[in-house]
Amino acid sequence: MDNPVLTAIAERRSIRAYKDDKVTKEQFDILLRAAEEAPSARNSQPWHFSVVQNPAILAEINAEACRNLNREGDIFHGASAAIFLSCDAASRWARLDCGIATQTIALAAHSIGLGTVILGLPDAAFTGARGDYFNKLLKFPAGYSFAVAIAIGFPAATKEAHPVEPDRITFVE
Ligand SMILES: Cc1cc2nc3c(=O)[nH]c(=O)nc-3n(C[C@H](O)[C@H](O)[C@H](O)COP(=O)(O)O)c2cc1C
Repeated sequence: MDNPVLTAIAERRSIRAYKDDKVTKEQFDILLRAAEEAPSARNSQPWHFSVVQNPAILAEINAEACRNLNREGDIFHGASAAIFLSCDAASRWARLDCGIATQTIALAAHSIGLGTVILGLPDAAFTGARGDYFNKLLKFPAGYSFAVAIAIGFPAATKEAHPVEPDRITFVE
């Protein structure tokens, strides 16, 4: 079947190796437009998108998250950019809405030749002792907290599709 939506869904992968090339403003505009077109409960659009291309800021978040997680490495997998989604944590559906917007970004990115990996690990920087500092650094709106991030760049590698777990579907009759 030649269906571009289903093809993008099937071909998207979490990309964990990137080229040095920068994501352009036009590409960010496409991704953020797609994100804003995502559905949300009562159309509340309870998200904020902080776009970061400054390598020093990504390095600072990585260092803090790794320190708090007692691990080493690059949680951004060498991507030159990331979008951080923050939301009103008290809002019932806000985190789910952010997840939907994040997958929308992932599919839109794949459709224009970019790679992504959705990231929960940066949470460790925002929930640690210096969380307020990082909330301000990324200009989260007042009362908002980190929901999820998505690293973006030009893929330098790909991977197999993830194996699908059995018994996760029941047709209830
Ligand atoms: C909410 C969420 C958080 C994730 N956090 C991370 C992360 O911090 N680091 C990472 O490398 N991958 C992370 N992933 C990617 C998953 O590991 C990946 O989606 C899963 O292994 C399936 O592989 P695929 O995306 O290539 O199909 C996250 C995915 C989701 C949905």
